[in-house]
Amino acid sequence: MQYAAVTGWGKCLPPAVLTNAELATVLPTDDEWIVSRTGIKERRISHVRLEELAYVAASRALAAAGLQAADLDLIVFGTCSFDDQVPNQSSGLQLRLGAMSAAAMDVNTACTSFLYALSTATAMIRSGVVQRALVVGGEVITPLMDWTNRNVAVLFGDGCAAVVLEASDTEQGVLAEKLGCDAAARGTLVIQGMGSRYADFERRLGVTDWVFEGQEIFKRAVVGMSEASAAVLAAKGLTAADLDLVVPHQANLRIIEAVARRAGLPAERVFTNVHRYGNMSAATVPVALVEALEEGRVPPNGLLLLPAFGAGLTWCAHLLRWGPRVLPLAQSEVQLPPCEHTALELVKSLISRRAAAVGTAV
Ligand SMILES: CC(C)(COP(=O)(O)OP(=O)(O)OC[C@H]1O[C@@H](n2cnc3c(N)ncnc32)[C@H](O)[C@@H]1OP(=O)(O)O)[C@@H](O)C(=O)NCCC(=O)NCCS
Repeated sequence: MQYAAVTGWGKCLPPAVLTNAELATVLPTDDEWIVSRTGIKERRISHVRLEELAYVAASRALAAAGLQAADLDLIVFGTCSFDDQVPNQSSGLQLRLGAMSAAAMDVNTACTSFLYALSTATAMIRSGVVQRALVVGGEVITPLMDWTNRNVAVLFGDGCAAVVLEASDTEQGVLAEKLGCDAAARGTLVIQGMGSRYADFERRLGVTDWVFEGQEIFKRAVVGMSEASAAVLAAKGLTAADLDLVVPHQANLRIIEAVARRAGLPAERVFTNVHRYGNMSAATVPVALVEALEEGRVPPNGLLLLPAFGAGLTWCAHLLRWGPRVLPLAQSEVQLPPCEHTALELVKSLISRRAAAVGTAV
């Protein structure tokens, strides 16, 4: 039996931090509301494109695995905020890395994109199509944010992380997964302004309006993540007591707490970092996984559960067996270019450019 072991991991967070208090200077909101409703205290605003974040995260993941980019057979990039739709995001990363033997594909299921990408790469390794894969989850969503809409602008941030998968004979990597989509609710989260239906010359592409039914998403997210989690545990004859750590999608602390309560999981076995980054969509689970490793929360051969949901409304849960190694084999020297601006300056620039674009739209 062939498995797809996780042998490398790396993250890249843009350095510019936007606190709730800073956000409250451009929007009618406040720290108390944001923290009490979501658990979010700050988020990152990227000064570079997604490809740059991914290049750094991927270089770190390859170093952790002790591999060169040329060793990769496959790159699967999970994102919904591509730098370009054509050509795809993963081909840009392939070129930056010099991973010239790799096939390169994107997966977009919104916030679950990394996990669907993990399933894709795992399946291709297990079926013998490829031996070594890089799986990326990353978003630079802040340029697509409607910074005038406080219902959504407080929730999201930018970031990226990647893992390396390698074919293995030992029982490692994804052991079970459950994927699904609650498409009846696809209208609860729509970013209008991205996609060919908006190439009608009536508005500037990229000037977005977010349709966002927060409470409906909340309820369905809790149900989807809980049912998927129960299904993967049942598939392997396990219970929540067998899990070493749960690394859930980080959209809202109250959603995570509700899922943990339903599963009977104590808080110390649930990893959270939503307070630091907000919802980074496809990046939340891989960034949290990397930070759980950095903080020594993943034991050798540990059993992890990764539940998530996203627009669509896609949902999923993955049961993941970690390997014996929880430390990177090497570190990468690759860094982001320096950021010359504060996060607030970056956001103010986005706000004024959007206002100018709206003002000049036909
Ligand atoms: C978005 C979310 C935090 C909103 O929390 P909520 O408790 O449902 O809050 P509501 O939307 O009912 O709004 C309550 C009040 O706060 C106000 N409000 C909304 N956003 C606000 C903000 N940023 N600051 C201050 N007040 C705000 C609303 O206008 C409303 O005021 P009203 O009662 O006078 O009309 C919550 O629904 C949520 O997390 N949903 C899941 C969304 C998600 O994770 N999406 C990710 C998709 S992958």
